[in-house]
This record gives sequence, C-alpha cells and structure tokens, in this order.
Amino acid sequence: MKYFLKAYAKVNIGLRVLQKREDGFHPLKSYFHKVSLYDSIKIDILESDKFEVSIKGNESYMESGEDLMAKAARFFCEQSGIPFKLNIAIDKIIPSQAGLGGGSSDAAEILLALNNHFSSPLNKEEIQALALKLGSDVPFFTSGLNAAYAEGRGEKLREVEALSYPIVILKRSDEKMSTKSAFALLDERAICTNSIGSWPLPLSEWQTNYINDFDMLQECRKEPEVMKILSLAKYNTTTGSGSAQLLVFENLQQREAWISAFKCSKLTFTPFFGVLCCNS
Ligand code: C5P
Repeated sequence: MKYFLKAYAKVNIGLRVLQKREDGFHPLKSYFHKVSLYDSIKIDILESDKFEVSIKGNESYMESGEDLMAKAARFFCEQSGIPFKLNIAIDKIIPSQAGLGGGSSDAAEILLALNNHFSSPLNKEEIQALALKLGSDVPFFTSGLNAAYAEGRGEKLREVEALSYPIVILKRSDEKMSTKSAFALLDERAICTNSIGSWPLPLSEWQTNYINDFDMLQECRKEPEVMKILSLAKYNTTTGSGSAQLLVFENLQQREAWISAFKCSKLTFTPFFGVLCCNS
C-alpha cells in the first residue's frame, strides 16, 4: 500500500538548558512550534515474512550509520512483532543539522504511518516511548501537536496555542553543528539562568522572554552585519541547538520590507519563507 507523507519542520521559541543529568542528557524548557516547511515522503508498505527497508533520496545528508527513518521502521517491527518490506522515497527540503528537527520529523511520520497501516498495534504511550528512543525531538512530532511547551528531554509535552505569524528561516550551507557537540559546548559555559516567559506573550516581548541558550554558540551571530539584519525582524533566535536562525514578523508587510533589506545586504544565507502554524 502506498502513502504520501508530509514531515513538517519545527522551530524552538525559547530554549533554556538546565544542568546535565546523570544519563548525559540535559533537561530543557522550550516551546516547540511546527512551521510550514516540510519534507515529502512516499512510502510503499508490502507484505513480507522478513523485515526490509530501502530508502531513496537520503544520499545528500546521510554520513554514516542507520537512517533514522529505517531505525523507526525497525523499532516498530521489533515492538509490534509485524514483519514487512518498506520502500521509502524522500524529497528532502528541511536542511539537516539546522535545529529544525527534519530527521526527527521524518522518522516520526514513518512510525505513525506504519502504526496506522497495521491498525494501531501500538498505543499512544508505546509510540511516545519508541519516539523518545529515536531522539529527544521525536515525541513532539509523534504527539500530533502543532505547538507545545516541552520539558524533560523534550518528551514532557503540554499543548499550547498555535500561532500564525509569517517567518523566515535563514541557513548557511557551511554552518552545521551536531546536537551532541552543541550541548557539550554549552556545558563549558555553565549556564545558570533558565527562565522562559509564559505563552503566548505579545510578539514585542518575545526577544527578552523567549531566549535560546544556544544563541551564544552561533558563529553567524558574532557578525555585526548578520545581527543587523536579524534585528530588523520583530523576533530573532537560533532554533534548536542551531545553526538555523528564525525570524518572526508581525505581518506580511513587515516581512516584505525585511526581504528588501536582506536583498541589499548580500548576506550568503539561503532563506526559507513560511508561517509558524501549519495545517497538518
Ligand atoms: O536525543 P538526541 O539523539 O537528539 O540527542 C543527541 C545528543 O544531544 C545526546 O546524545 C546528548 O548528548 C545531547 N542532548 C542532551 N540533552 C537533550 C537532548 C540532547 O544533552 N535534552
């Protein structure tokens, strides 16, 4: 049976990182919000006595190890006891290692699609537990929420109101940092403030209330030209552990004015235009 899936990216609006736990993970406080940027995934689930996965389209971002979508399928097979053959073709749009949760969202969609196809052998709690085994961001994507306040590693989720501001996401192709290294670098800075504002505050109050602790690690934020263009938005922040930068605008006119200024700046970012909310 063939299915067509949309795996949406997320952004973090505020991300406070607390002291490392004994298991090596850091507790965090953050608002996760889906955005209108997505990967398109075509899957074909076939009956088989043996578990098999093939993936096309992941060549550009796979470096080593098992693709997270293949891992999601394997975990599903192991937990449900159902073998199958799965063919995946992905049109990768969300940049990887950007803090946009692309890989996590792809894996979450595979998990949900398999569970739906086989008439829900796993209940919601089991899906959320498998999702956390795949990665800290994955439970947000399997939760079905468009916006959530997250604690723990990111798995303790409370739904919050989804908003619909126009956004721009800026990404430089050469700026990549693994989540693991970003957390390790943050440890060296010994952060001790960790408050985050209530939700949702007026957009004019976001800059001082929704702070991302990873901002200080971003090379691009040390460049005055970059900070000048970022600060023309109502709100600017690093998303996740970086390296993408999120800009939020009150309305489309303000974003149009920003686009004109950005074009004049000749900064070498690839911009993605979208909105905060999505109708997934
Ligand atoms: O869960 P995920 O696979 O995305 O995490 C990658 C790495 O990032 C972890 O191995 C850990 O070093 C770090 N991390 C962390 N605290 C979190 C999430 C991730 O220290 N809440």
